[in-house]
Amino acid sequence: MLELDEVTAAYGKSQVLQGISLHVDEGEVVALLGRNGAGKTTTLRTVMGLLPPSGGRIRFAGDDLVGRPPDAVARLGVGFVPDDRRIFAPLTVEENLVLAQRVAGDGSGPWTLARVYELFPALSEQRGQGGATLSGGQQKMLALGRGLVANPRLLLLDEAVEGLAPIVVQRFVDVVREVATSGITLLLADQNLRFARQVAQRGYIIDKGRIEHEDDIEAIWRDERLVRRYLTV
Ligand SMILES: Nc1ncnc2c1ncn2[C@@H]1O[C@H](COP(=O)(O)OP(=O)(O)OP(=O)(O)O)[C@@H](O)[C@H]1O
Ligand SMILES: [Mg+2]
Repeated sequence: MLELDEVTAAYGKSQVLQGISLHVDEGEVVALLGRNGAGKTTTLRTVMGLLPPSGGRIRFAGDDLVGRPPDAVARLGVGFVPDDRRIFAPLTVEENLVLAQRVAGDGSGPWTLARVYELFPALSEQRGQGGATLSGGQQKMLALGRGLVANPRLLLLDEAVEGLAPIVVQRFVDVVREVATSGITLLLADQNLRFARQVAQRGYIIDKGRIEHEDDIEAIWRDERLVRRYLTV
């Protein structure tokens, strides 16, 4: 469904992605794992068209993504949940969701506002509240809810559970599994192997803008040397 072939990207003169090749098949949950500054977010931003690649190819469901602006990539069915939560603070929870639904196009698909509220009752209770009044966990829920109501075919999820309490992380494990079951393919960028292991089937390890390893997530989990070298601080 998604295929990156030798993708390079730079911020100004500093080249960050050194030639990323990876693929995500339809129906998979794939984790892009790596330390701080490894290039995970940059990879997702490059797929989304937020940062134009300087080289390589990106294909999604038969279309070439390189050169398309983010709104065009979104219309093809790619969603992005940024790690910075990017809630529109002056808007209420509900307005945030309605806006995300409109931006996506026709908004048809299984993920409605009602289903997002069912998934996250805390959001339902706060639906009339401003986005800025939400807790960190609720902001993460709203960010994911915004991604879902666009009904993407592929969702890029950046640091889904960063900074969340363990009990909230467990809730997100269930949620991500339910999202995958609903038919959305997922590419997660994460530092948290413990979380990724509970939701993903396959993983890539990225370091200094290069893919260093690819395997089943359980094989990565068991490879202590690999984990020590690329994942734990
Ligand atoms: N807007 C930017 N301008 C310049 N350099 C940037 C910018 N954003 C990121 N970088 C640099 O690019 C490299 C990769 O950053 P990136 O955010 O992709 O890493 P990451 O794997 O997502 O890390 P994190 O765990 O911190 O989210 C880092 O060296 C970072 O300092
Ligand atoms: Mg990041």
